[in-house]
Amino acid sequence: MEEKILQIKKEALTEIEQVKNQKELDEIRNKYLSRASELNNLKKGLKDVAPELRPKIGALTNEVSKEIEALVNKKAEEFYQIELNKKLEAEKIDVTLPSTYEPYGHIHPLTKTTNEIVEIFEMLGFSLIKNEYSPEVEVEKYNFDLLNVPKEHPARDVQDTFYSKLAKNVILRSQTSNAQVRQMQNSRPPIKIISPGRVYRSESVSARKNNLFHQIEGLYVDKNVTFGDLKGVLNEFIRLYFGSSRPTRFRNSFFPFTEPSAEVDVQCIMCHGKGCPTCSGTGWLEILGSGMVDPNVLRAVDIDPDVYTGFAFGMGIERLTMLKYAIDDIRLFFNNDIRFLNQF
Ligand code: DAH
Repeated sequence: MEEKILQIKKEALTEIEQVKNQKELDEIRNKYLSRASELNNLKKGLKDVAPELRPKIGALTNEVSKEIEALVNKKAEEFYQIELNKKLEAEKIDVTLPSTYEPYGHIHPLTKTTNEIVEIFEMLGFSLIKNEYSPEVEVEKYNFDLLNVPKEHPARDVQDTFYSKLAKNVILRSQTSNAQVRQMQNSRPPIKIISPGRVYRSESVSARKNNLFHQIEGLYVDKNVTFGDLKGVLNEFIRLYFGSSRPTRFRNSFFPFTEPSAEVDVQCIMCHGKGCPTCSGTGWLEILGSGMVDPNVLRAVDIDPDVYTGFAFGMGIERLTMLKYAIDDIRLFFNNDIRFLNQF
């Protein structure tokens, strides 16, 4: 019997030595160590062995199964390590390799110029309006009526302004001037505010026009505010925004909410005043509308025009940005092309 056990041991050791993978090892484990294994059967047969030999044979069977088990476990550990190394090798990361390029988010040029313009006016003593006084979805009253815009004015036409199909009189504001009225209704002079925001116009889109764009509105109402103050503030703004070298001019104009009114032009950046398609041959590009607040507008918000005067202005942010950076197509601001945006 002893011989038989040693024979089993020998076979097992050779098989374990030659085993090629975990699957074969499992078969070996089954063959030599399971309940149905030959060794186990021998253990069961111990009762037929002469009593004086039993302890020795019993000990030997145990010893051999332990030995086989230890070797099987050792082999299993080896296979596990091999598999693990294969996996690690396959998933290896070389931290010295250059990474793939992920474009970063970038501040939008319109946001950049808006911030610049706001900063300049803050230096000149203007404060940002509360958001609630500057809604984009507006009623006609604030976009037109209280700004002295007559009922039959062409700006009110559906060709120019977006009207809600659901609610009467509800529009997308066509100018940031609604903010002036809301501010004056909710506070008393002195008022010195600016209000940047989006405006909408029902327009066919081209290199010069988009039906969504941005404006900054400004309003200064107090005792003794004059047209001289208007010119002083706007000239200072232009000097700070464009630098002193850019020629500008004030031009007589008309707006229902200001009297007198003026538009400000700066010399065309493309042709330097010679005249080109960008400036329609005039050599000048308009950047803002402005004027002394019409007494009717003050009266409509219960401010006495005999005591207070004021000036207001509204400027197009796209136009100001295009002029500063010589951009010739307004649609570039809305395409989100990273090659364009990255230049700012
Ligand atoms: N709201 C005018 C526009 O969109 C611009 C403007 C002109 C605003 C004169 C003003 C102003 O506040 O006084 O064309």
